[in-house]
Amino acid sequence: MTDKSDLPPSDNDQAAADPGRPEWAQAHGPLRSFGRIKSRPIKAKQAALFDTLMPQIAVPDPAKGPIDPQALMPGAKEVWLEIGFGGGEHLAEQAGRHPDALMIGCEPFLNGVASALRHVEEGGLKNVRLHADDARAVMAALPDASLDRVMILFPDPWHKVRHNKRRLLQDETAVEIARLLKPGGMVRFVTDWLDYAEWALERLARTPGLTRRQAPGADWFTVPADHVVTRYEEKKLGDTAPIFLEFAREA
Ligand SMILES: C[S@@+](CC[C@H](N)C(=O)[O-])C[C@H]1O[C@@H](n2cnc3c(N)ncnc32)[C@H](O)[C@@H]1O
Repeated sequence: MTDKSDLPPSDNDQAAADPGRPEWAQAHGPLRSFGRIKSRPIKAKQAALFDTLMPQIAVPDPAKGPIDPQALMPGAKEVWLEIGFGGGEHLAEQAGRHPDALMIGCEPFLNGVASALRHVEEGGLKNVRLHADDARAVMAALPDASLDRVMILFPDPWHKVRHNKRRLLQDETAVEIARLLKPGGMVRFVTDWLDYAEWALERLARTPGLTRRQAPGADWFTVPADHVVTRYEEKKLGDTAPIFLEFAREA
């Protein structure tokens, strides 16, 4: 039986049961790194956006073959990927600040996707593409050296040792990120759980091709100038102030 007290706030028994794992997940074997895919009912106006806006901005099904980011937004000057965008506040804010950059956001939590759709509509954002499921399928379908930035902000902590294997950031995720980043491209990982920060630092640091951008010994609490406070961050559920890790892809 699942010990609910051990699960992060967005988790439930579904997470432990891994129901309906898609074919790609069975082939690659990753465990679910996320919890609930739906909580409260989605408001009618937001639900309608799944029928109207989502078909226009959905990332093509990664199970159907490789995804060319330039085909998603011809002429995009940069391509960013946000994994687990929650309610999409950060994604939408960054999209507004960088209209020439294609922002690919992945999030299986449908209430979050609904919220992001609302932000995209209200902001009139033309540079956002969404995948309402596991980011790892999209990553597998993207070509080498195709991303300028990967953002992982406050991922589910899975902080009990027996659940650590569900953490999004595993060695294989870090290797995949290194494959996807363009030379000089950057991954930002932020958490407010100290043990996850240490876990992520260890894995990112041992990934070939990635180099820490912050100088050794630099204060990992220093907030990057372009950081946008997220909804999850505001809840302050972790055991530390937010810790920021940034690694760049070597040339
Ligand atoms: C703790 S929430 C943080 C959300 C948001 N980044 C914020 O800071 O408000 C982590 C989110 O990551 C999502 N997530 C977990 N694993 C994921 C995966 N493999 N692909 C995409 N999203 C994932 C979860 O559904 C959840 O919404």
